[in-house]
Amino acid sequence: MSNKEKQRILTGDRPTGRLHLGHYVGSLQNRVELQEEYDTFLIIADVQALTTNFEKPEKLGEDVRQVARDYLAAGIDPEKTTIFVQSMVPEIAELTIFFSMLVTVNQLRHNPTIKSEADQYGYKDMTYGFLGYPVSQAADISFCRANLVPVGEDQIPHIEQTRKIVRKFNNLYGEVFPEPKALISDFPRLMGIDGKSKMSKSLNNAIYLSDSVEEVNKKIMKAKTDPARIHKDDPGHPEVCTVFHYHEAFNKEESEEIASKCRAGTIGCVACKKRMAKKLNLFLDPMRERRKKYLENPQLIEEIIQKGTKRARKEAALTLEKVREVMKIDYFNK
Ligand code: TRP
Repeated sequence: MSNKEKQRILTGDRPTGRLHLGHYVGSLQNRVELQEEYDTFLIIADVQALTTNFEKPEKLGEDVRQVARDYLAAGIDPEKTTIFVQSMVPEIAELTIFFSMLVTVNQLRHNPTIKSEADQYGYKDMTYGFLGYPVSQAADISFCRANLVPVGEDQIPHIEQTRKIVRKFNNLYGEVFPEPKALISDFPRLMGIDGKSKMSKSLNNAIYLSDSVEEVNKKIMKAKTDPARIHKDDPGHPEVCTVFHYHEAFNKEESEEIASKCRAGTIGCVACKKRMAKKLNLFLDPMRERRKKYLENPQLIEEIIQKGTKRARKEAALTLEKVREVMKIDYFNK
């Protein structure tokens, strides 16, 4: 099937550091699989990252490269997927302004992800840019007329907001945009190694796709297990164990056997952790191999992004032309 007939995906990440296993099971894995079937666009959302990092924009350049390397290492194929940088597609900013007329301030204030992020960052008063980033995200998704958005579950309110905007736009002016659907993975939440909360950079409980073998071994050895298990042959409770949770995510084939041995007290935590670490390293090895190529040839990253951005801008120009036409603000170019 040619790209023209394929349905489109748009998804992406803010460049705020390295991607970890939570990103992988939450969305990256879906993207790698779906790039075969869908015409896929991956946005590195640097403007959105500015909503919380506007005081240190000098960090963005390296983080943009880091995210691109993580995508490519994880198996995103630049021949199939268009990787681009948000700020390099000015049409997205333009579409954001048109969309902003179709959203009320109250809708944005009630967005649960905005609320919990504002709490997390301690914002009592929000900037216009932060409160409004879901509008900009609607433009990220719509500039290429995407049908499907594979994301983590925290992004659902933003996709809902996008659908509302698109519906209103289409009703008012005419059908330009498909109503995009969110695609949530089977494993939307991966626990951090502390066993307390979701894996996250800011909680210092993450295993990164770019971690070395030694780092992975060390982190798994430190990971929280069933607190009721003191001796090796005590019967365990895999359902409360972080390491078992990783077996389910990355070692599905052996997870049943491990669960029953753990319950029977016939596999100790150290042995169970060793199996997990080995499995994880096997899983990360091909990523390490691919990453090496891009670390040794950083100009490859730049070439991929320039090429992706060019294609994204082409699509954006087509969409914006249509938008101005249906909104009848194309007064002088008829
Ligand atoms: N909000 C997403 C995040 O925090 C990043 C993002 C920006 C995004 N634009 C997008 C995700 C468009 C999906 C579609 O990770």
